[in-house]
Amino acid sequence: MTPFPDPALLLAWYDRHKRTLPWRMPSGAADPYRVWLSEVMLQQTTVATVGPRYARFLARFPDVASLAAASWEEVAEEWAGLGYYARARNLHAGAKALAAGGFPTTVEGLRAMPGIGAYTAAAVAAIAFNRPVVPADGNVERVTARIHAVDAPLPAAKPRLAALAQGWMENPAARARPGDFAQALFDLGATVCTPRNPACAICPWRDGCAAQKAGIQAGLPRKAAK
Ligand code: ADE
Repeated sequence: MTPFPDPALLLAWYDRHKRTLPWRMPSGAADPYRVWLSEVMLQQTTVATVGPRYARFLARFPDVASLAAASWEEVAEEWAGLGYYARARNLHAGAKALAAGGFPTTVEGLRAMPGIGAYTAAAVAAIAFNRPVVPADGNVERVTARIHAVDAPLPAAKPRLAALAQGWMENPAARARPGDFAQALFDLGATVCTPRNPACAICPWRDGCAAQKAGIQAGLPRKAAK
């Protein structure tokens, strides 16, 4: 039986190798507005493109109050070129709703905000509020499918992969740092456990990876035939 890989190994790897990204704050110092903005931008836009646009957006709308006070035309102008304008509409509507109360700090509260689905609610809850949840984006699904050698194809396997990923939170080391753990999974998926030619030789979780043991990592996760 393959040993379940130790979350502490992934966190130690993250502490040494994490990417320097504009929205990354020291653990525990995350501003929920910034985390929310970055996660919404990253939903359909690459890390490389989001970097400068995130900084520009924040320069213009530095907090919830300034975004709430802006007109839709100003927000749309700032969003120009990023596409999927529903995201900007939801940010604007969300900021107006938040300006009255405060930022929800639970997954359920976050999910009630416009445009926030399961992934974004979990990402903000983990990164901004250190809630013990694991957001399952494409990177996390791929890492999880390989670690557990899940052979069932996407998209049907999504709920199972999300549940397996959430299982990491049973571990005290992961539970102590949910925001870092989520971002460690993103970074592992983006830089080591890549869709093609995963760099298993340098992977901190190599010894606990069922797919690597079986030599089937490159074919996972499987995708249902179109
Ligand atoms: N993809 C989605 N959210 C991310 C984050 N916070 N850091 C890096 N990549 C991401």
